[in-house]
Amino acid sequence: MRLITIANQKGGCAKTTTVVNFAACLAELNQRVLVIDLDPQSNASQWLGFEESKGGSAEIFKSQQKIEDLVQPSGVAGVDLIPASQELAQIEKLLAGELSVETILKRRIQKMNSENYDFVLIDTPPTLGLLTLNALAAAKELLIPVTTHVMTLSGVAQLINTVSNVREILNPDLSILGFIASRVDMRTRHSQEVLESLTERFGDQVFKAIIRENVRLAEAPSYSESIIEYDKNSMAANDYRALTKEILQRAN
Ligand SMILES: Nc1ncnc2c1ncn2[C@@H]1O[C@H](COP(=O)(O)OP(=O)(O)OP(=O)(O)O)[C@@H](O)[C@H]1O
Ligand SMILES: [Mg+2]
Repeated sequence: MRLITIANQKGGCAKTTTVVNFAACLAELNQRVLVIDLDPQSNASQWLGFEESKGGSAEIFKSQQKIEDLVQPSGVAGVDLIPASQELAQIEKLLAGELSVETILKRRIQKMNSENYDFVLIDTPPTLGLLTLNALAAAKELLIPVTTHVMTLSGVAQLINTVSNVREILNPDLSILGFIASRVDMRTRHSQEVLESLTERFGDQVFKAIIRENVRLAEAPSYSESIIEYDKNSMAANDYRALTKEILQRAN
């Protein structure tokens, strides 16, 4: 079971788009996938057909219910989901004063039967708060999407700093699986520049597969379909397939 967190505290950098479509591409290759939505905005859950006001992933932090009992089948074949709910926004307050609150998810996932899934993907909110820290503490691997249509590299340094603190204190096993250049528009000088500086700084850690700007990706959530179902031969579907292939090849 590969445990992958998708994080970047920069808002709107394609975290959720990556989670949903990477999950769908894995499922297309007959991999069994569980998505855990840890974002109170619930975008991934809504995209996968869920609208919850209570429960879901918040129960991981509130109750002793087994992770497996929180799982729902999603609208995408082969992809299961633990949906987010607005209750997640209260979790930080609710846990105030308790011990080791950063490792609650980690401890709960350790009790899961690791035979049930090939991949667990965790979507995170655009902050470095308690929910994201739980996702970083629980994962073995970290995927960092970076959009190239706006300057986003400044926040990446802060994220990497958090990752090294997490490694030291909470989770020595955490490694950076790679950076995903997203919303790339090679017609703009700006996109090219961001891609260049990303590669300059992080070298081979930047995936060769890039995700290009494509309106089909912005349309798909309204239909509760991944890009694979919404437009299976689109450029966007093929970009995510290529990324998935590269991630599968990249050793854990
Ligand atoms: N390759 C792409 N082409 C066009 N639009 C895209 C692409 N990737 C993402 N988007 C759009 O960009 C916006 C932000 O994407 P997304 O919601 O995946 O980011 P996020 O990092 O999860 O945001 P948040 O930080 O709010 O959780 C969405 O409207 C999405 O449809
Ligand atoms: Mg999101």
